[in-house]
Amino acid sequence: GRAARCHNIEDLRVMAKRSVPQPIFDYVDGAAWGEVTRRRNRDGFERFELLPRMLVDVSKLELATTALGREIALPIIGAPTGTTGLTHPDGEGAVARAAHSMGTIYTQSALSSLSIEEVSAMAPGPKWFQLYVMTDRGVAYDMLQRAAAHGYEALVLTVDVAVAGVRERDVRNRFSIPPRLTLRAAAQGLVRPRWARNFIARPRLTTGNTTSPRVPAGGGAVAHAEWVNRQFDPSVTWDDLATFREHWGGPLLIKGIMRPDDAVRAVEHGVEGIIVSNHGGRQLDHTRSTIEALPAIAEAVGGRAELYLDGGIRRGTDIITALALGARAVLIGRPMVYGLGAAGEAGVRRAFELLHGELATALALAGYPRISDLGPEMIHLVR
Ligand code: FNR
Repeated sequence: GRAARCHNIEDLRVMAKRSVPQPIFDYVDGAAWGEVTRRRNRDGFERFELLPRMLVDVSKLELATTALGREIALPIIGAPTGTTGLTHPDGEGAVARAAHSMGTIYTQSALSSLSIEEVSAMAPGPKWFQLYVMTDRGVAYDMLQRAAAHGYEALVLTVDVAVAGVRERDVRNRFSIPPRLTLRAAAQGLVRPRWARNFIARPRLTTGNTTSPRVPAGGGAVAHAEWVNRQFDPSVTWDDLATFREHWGGPLLIKGIMRPDDAVRAVEHGVEGIIVSNHGGRQLDHTRSTIEALPAIAEAVGGRAELYLDGGIRRGTDIITALALGARAVLIGRPMVYGLGAAGEAGVRRAFELLHGELATALALAGYPRISDLGPEMIHLVR
């Protein structure tokens, strides 16, 4: 299929750009303000050089690991992405299925296009559930209950969205959820027939999880979108973590940590996992890259919680760097959605396969057949 024509993640990105309407591509690809953090997430990897060792038997590679006790076949987990149904009507269901077919975990966003029930039905494999700290706690607790009932194995609490980041591509495109049907949007549909055919058959206009009875009824789609935006709670603090614990029996990961002192606080609050993340540069711009933030955080945490990283993972060598600097596994966001836009579920699978293949080859060339042996001694920091 189409996906086979893509030989790296950038190829999938280019194919997605040609395949989905420009405002939707920009929503996926874009980031906040000057997009400095988005760029740094990529450039940060260039500061680290790999130090390969030679004459090691690499005939057998071990890429499997565990994430919160669950075995995964490769150290790559699906990051939560909201409103993925705009890119393809199978949205999060297709993305989750592709992750499962590779033997790994998918994280479903609270703001997913498909509901917890729909994704569970389409993709029965291992899933985590991602929640924002919401003003309407009733809606949040309702989602937690549904996620638990459907066997989601961990809760990912995203803490870097006190307010919505300002993504200027979206502002310029007048991007909204649900999308406005304008002449320009219709024209975009005409030049993207593959996307338009899928979308017209099964439109996915809003977020699937918030169709709970608490959402104000009768307001229509626009009211729905405004309601979603009002859900971010800017007053939340560390004290609120305990409340979430009361409503979630399973393991808890905190996503969006960028400082060692915050990581230590998270450990003190008993989280099982920390995801070093700057939301792919979509929230506060001008932060550090996640890969540059990782070493000090790993040192501060000292193995007291499982450490994960996302942001800018586009190559197998990026994964080696992250693991060597202390991450247990990485999460990927845009690479999956580029794949989805390029070629549906097969495209997402291709994204995972490409990273998996690059990782395997790079491990062999680096003389580290087992990912568990990766450590800071194989990394040199430039400058
Ligand atoms: C995201 N991200 C995100 N994070 C989260 O916690 N909840 C969410 O609903 C979303 N939604 C979302 C949508 C889209 C289109 C993107 C691209 C990203 C952030 C995501 O989980 C992750 O942190 C970044 O995407 C990682 O960076 P890369 O892999 O995209 O460079």
